Amino acid sequence: MSYLPADTRYDAMRYNRCGRSGLKLPAISLGLWYNFSGVDSLENARAMIRRAFDLGITHFDLANNYGPPPGSAEENFGRILSQDLAAYRDELVISSKAGYWMWPGPYGEWGSRKYLIASLDQSLKRMGLEYVDIFYSHRPDPETPLEETMGALDHMVRSGKALYAGISSYSLEQTRQAAQILRALGTPCLIHQPKYSMLHRWIEDGLLGVLAEEDIGCIAFSPLSQGLLTDKYLRGVPADSRIGKSGEQLDWGDSATQAIVAKVRQLNEIAQARGQTMAQMAIAWVLRHPGMTSALIGASRPAQIEEAVAAQQNLHFTDEELQAIEAILAGNNPQ
Ligand SMILES: NC(=O)c1ccc[n+]([C@@H]2O[C@H](COP(=O)([O-])OP(=O)(O)OC[C@H]3O[C@@H](n4cnc5c(N)ncnc54)[C@H](OP(=O)(O)O)[C@@H]3O)[C@@H](O)[C@H]2O)c1
Repeated sequence: MSYLPADTRYDAMRYNRCGRSGLKLPAISLGLWYNFSGVDSLENARAMIRRAFDLGITHFDLANNYGPPPGSAEENFGRILSQDLAAYRDELVISSKAGYWMWPGPYGEWGSRKYLIASLDQSLKRMGLEYVDIFYSHRPDPETPLEETMGALDHMVRSGKALYAGISSYSLEQTRQAAQILRALGTPCLIHQPKYSMLHRWIEDGLLGVLAEEDIGCIAFSPLSQGLLTDKYLRGVPADSRIGKSGEQLDWGDSATQAIVAKVRQLNEIAQARGQTMAQMAIAWVLRHPGMTSALIGASRPAQIEEAVAAQQNLHFTDEELQAIEAILAGNNPQ
């Protein structure tokens, strides 16, 4: 069936300025790491993209290797774009990345100019695009000079194949250096994409401060810690969950697992008192930083996207709530 986006799509979403750039990103963005690949239902993927766009999610995040097989998430996204969203390209911010293993041999991963530029060309073909809005160095390369990796990003922007440059999972010091090199080249670093959630807080130890000083935006990936920060695992592992499908099992006898589940159970009570689900509170908590541009969620069904977007109905935390959350996360709140 042909798709007409909802007229109301810009009514409820907040759009936050990304660093000091001219670009705004939706407070909630959708990533296609899981559930959009060659082994997933294309109809479900399509329903999720449509629902997201209808709710004001203008930013879709990909990478060369998202699959399985690697590349298939970009191919499927390209299909959905051409079927449903071709007329709306100028309303979309599409990102891709390169850094992890993509093809055999010495030029298929890390941060060389050779790999990054070839990979972007492949991504554009897979998605049927002339340009991506943001292209990321997916991870720092300990062996390639940072000048070369940043020079490749600068080249992509100058050649019009990417509009903005970003970095992902760079440490505080690497971020400072990358920002300096990019600035000197005349292509400012738009954005950093780090992992950040109640269970992964490394960016609080200085990175957020560096991003503020350097006027770089921040988009936090895995704000739900891949589903752990929802209420779904409180009563066991559902077969259709990410953990259930992976064939792995949470080891309920393991003390680390028990400690996480016990914390989520307590956090869930705070969420309920705020009139939110656990997932909504986890997203709101990530967005509480003034420098946080967007929370980059994943989803396996349209209802999860609706739930995430509704987190915006309560983004405010009282000091008491924040302290109670800290106490639970620190394990100082035995029940
Ligand atoms: N730069 C990097 O190195 C990097 C690394 C990882 C991810 N990322 C980006 O970040 C994006 C998001 O990562 P992520 O998928 O780990 O994010 P996430 O938001 O932490 O986890 C998403 C998963 O949580 C579950 N979920 C979501 N909403 C839920 C709800 N309301 N109730 C219960 N369960 C819910 C779903 O899994 P199930 O329903 O299947 O259980 C969903 O697939 C990726 O797609 C990618 O774009 C980037």
